[in-house]
Amino acid sequence: MTTTSILGASEAELRRDRTSVKWLAYPPDVLPLWVAEMDCDPCPAVADAVASAVSRGDTGYGWAPRYAGEVARYAGETWGWDVDPSSMLVVTDVMIGASEVLRMLTDERGAVVVSPPVYDSFFGFVDAIGRRRVDAPLGADGRLDPEALRAAFREATAGGGRVGYLLCNPQNPTGTVHSPDELATLATLAREFGVRVVADEIHAPLVHDDGPAFSPYLTVPGAEDAFAVFSPSKGWNLAGLKSAVVVAGPQAQDDLARLPEVHTHGSSHLGEIAHVAAMRDGLDWHARLRAELRSNRDLVGRLLAEHLPAVRWTVPQATYLGWLDCRALDLGDDPAAAFRERGRVALGSGPRYGAQAGRGFVRLNFATSPAILEEAVRRMATAVG
Ligand SMILES: Cc1ncc(COP(=O)(O)O)c(C=O)c1O
Repeated sequence: MTTTSILGASEAELRRDRTSVKWLAYPPDVLPLWVAEMDCDPCPAVADAVASAVSRGDTGYGWAPRYAGEVARYAGETWGWDVDPSSMLVVTDVMIGASEVLRMLTDERGAVVVSPPVYDSFFGFVDAIGRRRVDAPLGADGRLDPEALRAAFREATAGGGRVGYLLCNPQNPTGTVHSPDELATLATLAREFGVRVVADEIHAPLVHDDGPAFSPYLTVPGAEDAFAVFSPSKGWNLAGLKSAVVVAGPQAQDDLARLPEVHTHGSSHLGEIAHVAAMRDGLDWHARLRAELRSNRDLVGRLLAEHLPAVRWTVPQATYLGWLDCRALDLGDDPAAAFRERGRVALGSGPRYGAQAGRGFVRLNFATSPAILEEAVRRMATAVG
């Protein structure tokens, strides 16, 4: 087994090798730790499978049952989630899948509830499908808040239309792994108000081994009429090789059948090949990656304590994202702007993840080398000092 680190590339190597948005969106003197891409070496099983497919000319359309079957096997072996591939629809990617399910389950100009701070594109996709957004913010502890959910469900359903709730499980940007009890409470409330839940579970493979286990939403009691959307793209850094599945709970099969089959046409055959290789042959690599992410997460904690002791964070249970409370630094509502302009380091801007809930916060992506993390926190400290 190789001992080389997966997250070891230097800044010079990354600038030479990467043409993705993370590395090109800012001038070269700005260190990028913003968008959710990893600075990892590729998973060899994935690189081999994609290179081989391209060289063989296997670049046509995908065969959805092969992909759905592999997701079902992975979900069963990883989380003990017994899911039938026939309850899945293969789709372009997670957000297209989630938004098309929400479009089907809700009424035009009806409401979709979300829980900020949350992945910023949730807001954009709710807008894109012409739905009204109602917020049920996480509590101050970063966890689902039953009272906020109840109030939002009441407000969203008051007009009588069909309403959806878009769950982020685990939560981006806080790294919260929602517990089975929290999810069951959500399911009970959703049933009470007739709200249909769609669970975005893209971050599930990135739950850290030293915390609570991931619970697929469709495995909790009361969630039988819900949908989940999953892709290994985030866990293996394959955003450029798109595919995903929509999974319908046992009481949502009729709704699944109403989703137009043409949505399957957006899935990339090369994406499916990459994802199948990841889930089948990339598990040892992934365990090593998770260990490095955990070690980076702990390094971020030490660096913050040393250089920016006024910054508060809750150690994430999942993801490679640190949600940093910078309110004590007096950098205003959007500290990422000050870090970028004065420190030349690009972080996720807190208010993007929720105008209220993200005020004074930044999101730091620690899926990079320890050396880059040290430089990034040092730069953040210069922006303050
Ligand atoms: C919670 C969440 N969902 C979806 C996505 C994007 O997934 P996709 O490209 O498959 O739509 C991201 C990307 O960061 C994310 O964090």
